[in-house]
Amino acid sequence: MAQAQEAWSSRLGVILAVAGSAVGLGNFLRFPGLAAQYGGGAFMVAYFVSLLVIGLPLCWVEWTLGREGGRRGFHSTPGIFHALLDRPWARHLGVIGFFTPVVIYMYYVYVEAWCLGYAVNALTGRLHEPGLDFRQFFASFTGVNEDGAALKFSTSDVGIFLIIVFILNFVFIYRGISKGIEKVCTYAMPALILIALIILGRVLTLGTPDPAKPDQTVLNGLGYLWNPGNVLAGLRNPELWLAAAGQIFFSLSVGFGVIITYASYLRRRDDVVLSGLTASAANEFCEVGLGGLITVPAAFIFLGAAGIAGQGTFALGFNVLPEVFVRMPGGQIFAVIFFVLLFLAAITSSLSMLQPGIAFLEEGLGLGRKASVALLGLITAIGTLFVWYFSKDLKAMDTIDFWVGTLMLFVQATILVIIFGWRIGVNEGWRLMHEGAEMRAPSFYRFVLKYITPLFLIGIFVMWLLRNVAGWNFSFSAPTFQPSGYITDLIGANPSPVARLTVGFIAITTLFALILTHLAGNRWNAARAARRNRHT
Ligand code: PFF
Repeated sequence: MAQAQEAWSSRLGVILAVAGSAVGLGNFLRFPGLAAQYGGGAFMVAYFVSLLVIGLPLCWVEWTLGREGGRRGFHSTPGIFHALLDRPWARHLGVIGFFTPVVIYMYYVYVEAWCLGYAVNALTGRLHEPGLDFRQFFASFTGVNEDGAALKFSTSDVGIFLIIVFILNFVFIYRGISKGIEKVCTYAMPALILIALIILGRVLTLGTPDPAKPDQTVLNGLGYLWNPGNVLAGLRNPELWLAAAGQIFFSLSVGFGVIITYASYLRRRDDVVLSGLTASAANEFCEVGLGGLITVPAAFIFLGAAGIAGQGTFALGFNVLPEVFVRMPGGQIFAVIFFVLLFLAAITSSLSMLQPGIAFLEEGLGLGRKASVALLGLITAIGTLFVWYFSKDLKAMDTIDFWVGTLMLFVQATILVIIFGWRIGVNEGWRLMHEGAEMRAPSFYRFVLKYITPLFLIGIFVMWLLRNVAGWNFSFSAPTFQPSGYITDLIGANPSPVARLTVGFIAITTLFALILTHLAGNRWNAARAARRNRHT
């Protein structure tokens, strides 16, 4: 297979690449937003439980299955399942594992372009122009007011930046595993951490900048996020668990099929237990230690609680923070480096979304690197164009994030953990995981992997369906069932044509992915039969 020789060039390189995938907009925008929304303490308890019960185990599962697939010459989830399970249906179980990241890329790159665009606009001073209305700037930059409104190409529009960022991703991915992804992450990750530390230093030394508002201090800003509140009452809220578990998936990049592909480029006896733990720990440091201490406290100090409340995931970064930077001493330079930080975090993540697709096209269809990069470029360009055009209320992006970024993710994560714990068997899985291991995982994780993780996952998934599809309010005494907007957008009295079109688009791409997987399977079966013939 054309790619069999590709490998990471060093241990640190692969850890940085996996950490690069994990550390992204999720750490600096999504996490602080959710933690603030659900009120600190209780959210953090559910978050750490999810980390230990689904995040870390799934991470080990992906590292182990990936390295094992790589040993057999496969790098994409369909290929790896085909090799490990030796069943005709196995490859189809892996479809989601290359499909999901590729589809997420289609909108993630859109937000990545905002980051670059905002960095440039901070640099040129546009974001510091007196009287600039930040919300209006955001709306016209991203096109949230009207479909087609973002298809413009001045520096105050997303267009040029989107094209640059899109091409940049493909240039790096074309350079390959060690010369492309690993190189980028080796520079970007330390740079990102350095920038985050500088900004953190700035935020934590702001004191009480406005004497007229003595409550808006650094300590109260931290308290807004971290004070425990009524933890027990919080933990009784199922939505908080859904949000916390969802954040763990998203943030660690587990369950998407990304880590499994990255791990397939390990060498035969490279450690996976410690490396997986290190990459996850790096992500948690960036998320809880850096992301959690920068964004919300900074906004609180200048704008107070009212400035933070009710902000969507990304709005916090793009609507609120530019306003904060204008009021901060030395704000322009901090604005530039903050958006550069977001951009670096985003690009190391978006690269990881492309590699599973490239690996699949190479090994499944036998395409060379140029051809697979070109084909994947074409497919993702269509999707990104779609998201870019249908920008009103960010509807297309939001719809894809729901159906693919959340629903399919649960399915793929459950498949992964069941294959590991039940099909391969937890004893054999455990043995594989510890080959070449530099530390042993605590042995109660055998039990966790076999029973707790799948049950927890299924439990959370069922709750998610009950809430987001059936619209149950989680009340036993006065239950109401009101399908969520994602459902009524499709079948309600007042459907959204864009949401319908988006789901149609997802359906067509899923079908396309299934057909390609079928063709790939024919190829792999023929190769296997030829090998067997040679041996007899
Ligand atoms: N982990 C990334 C973040 O925190 O922003 C997002 C991400 C990366 C999601 C890779 C999915 C994925 F496949």
